[in-house]
Amino acid sequence: MPQLSRFSITTPLYYVNAAPHIGSAYTTLIADTVARFARLQGRPVLLITGTDEHGQKIQRTAQERGLVPQQQCDRVAASFASLWKRLDIQYDRFSRTTAPRHAAIVREFFQSVWDNGDIYLARKQGWYCVACEEFKEERELLDGKYCSIHTNKSVEWRDEQNYFFRLSKYQSQLEALYRDRPDFIQPPARRNEVLSFVERGLNDFSISRVNLDWGIPVPTDPEHTIYVWFDALLGYVTALLDPADEPTLENALARWWPVDLHLIGKDILRFHAVYWPAMLMAAGLDLPQRVFGHGFLTKDGLKMGKSLGNTLDPLAMVDKYGADAVRYYFLREVELGQDGDFNETRFVNLLNAELANDLGNLLNRTLKMAGKYCGGKTPPIAAVDISSADALKQLGSSLAERVEDAYRALMFNRACQEVLALVRASNKYLDDRAPWSLYKRGEQAAVEQVLYAVLESVRLSAYLLSPVIPNLSTEIYRQLGIVLDFNDKTAIAQPGLYVEHARWGTLAPDQLLGEAKPLFARLELPTDGAL
Ligand code: MSP
Repeated sequence: MPQLSRFSITTPLYYVNAAPHIGSAYTTLIADTVARFARLQGRPVLLITGTDEHGQKIQRTAQERGLVPQQQCDRVAASFASLWKRLDIQYDRFSRTTAPRHAAIVREFFQSVWDNGDIYLARKQGWYCVACEEFKEERELLDGKYCSIHTNKSVEWRDEQNYFFRLSKYQSQLEALYRDRPDFIQPPARRNEVLSFVERGLNDFSISRVNLDWGIPVPTDPEHTIYVWFDALLGYVTALLDPADEPTLENALARWWPVDLHLIGKDILRFHAVYWPAMLMAAGLDLPQRVFGHGFLTKDGLKMGKSLGNTLDPLAMVDKYGADAVRYYFLREVELGQDGDFNETRFVNLLNAELANDLGNLLNRTLKMAGKYCGGKTPPIAAVDISSADALKQLGSSLAERVEDAYRALMFNRACQEVLALVRASNKYLDDRAPWSLYKRGEQAAVEQVLYAVLESVRLSAYLLSPVIPNLSTEIYRQLGIVLDFNDKTAIAQPGLYVEHARWGTLAPDQLLGEAKPLFARLELPTDGAL
């Protein structure tokens, strides 16, 4: 069997100033789903996540809490790791920018850009937003000198000697990159945003700070620390090192570089689609394949924020509804790239309709019938003997291809809808054929054919939805009498498994079925205890 191509994907490295919020959970859920689908196909996968731990924002937060910065970082990094566990995020690397091996990578990278002549010392004056960790143009600010992203935070005036990165030198190379690789930035609206930003002309940006010791010292001038973004982007590279590797750029880049997909929110697009490729060009390194900037989540149609008091705690969400429900809602409900909304009533209704009713009830009633009419076994017929004109066989036979296209295009809502179409067709098929009447009339062969077609359609649906709802998929497989744990990376990546399981007709005849249990308990509409 030919070796399938490797796939590496990153989430942003999250700031550790506060506990994880729903925005970070959202990006990470998407990345995990993409990674799971690639693993399902048998591809070697590396999913990178982690934390961005230096800079003024973290230093100040630690101070306010009476902690030394590293304590603050350790606590919050641990809370990210534990949330990812609760959400069944299967990351391969957790990159922390305070790790000593990361400092080695940053120093080597800085030195190579320095040797290339792309770093110089000059005076920097400007407005700085600590929450963004970014200098802002005066025209970008709201009245009263507030940041347009962190609308309750005013910017601070800075006037200091900084080291600068010669971004302007890369203007035409960046333009050529966007032109020659139109898919480098996705979706198209984000690409256009970047194009118009770059068209206005790029300015060099400052990559060091004085009077800030919570950072990595500039190798050529330890009075300065390296700007948090210059440091953080390199966290993606450090993450590529195998644990036993010496921390050198050569080792880091040997196996998984360039990264296939940087998944980020739209607010940090400029750093990933402009600064980062230019930095890599300056160090003579290959560029990542793709940067995808997703939209923002709102709650009940409103921007979320601490000051508005309407933040959504991802941990509370998992506690209340479980990982698969949270995963399904965000992937099924939001079109990636667009802004998306969380509304608890919509959440409950969607899950009840699609997971409890359409999918769960279908499985449950079909299994009960198989118990009664087929002795608790899969019907003793082979898929090849079912007519190719059969509605479910027809729909099911081309499903994997459509779902695969959707996953590849990061259209998770479409992937879910395609599968749901088969589930709904199966419900209708069951109602139309009424196997209970066929049974009464003694038409056993017809009963078996109908039940096989439906059970197989449920199996295929579970398989193709497993990147989104791994636990429910595992449970469906169990009830169908098939042992496959979708959280077991090795088990799902067995050679040939994808080809076998992604096609309609895999369910073996005459096999003992598992015990039937309600798949997904109906959720109650929120009352007092709303999220
Ligand atoms: N530390 C930087 C990233 C460095 S990457 C080398 C950072 N961290 S962050 O914690 O502030 O942001 C993390 C991610 O959460 C970003 O992708 C951001 O877009 C996303 N979100 C923050 N709020 C969000 C919503 N309300 N909705 C969706 N995603 C949002 O930026």
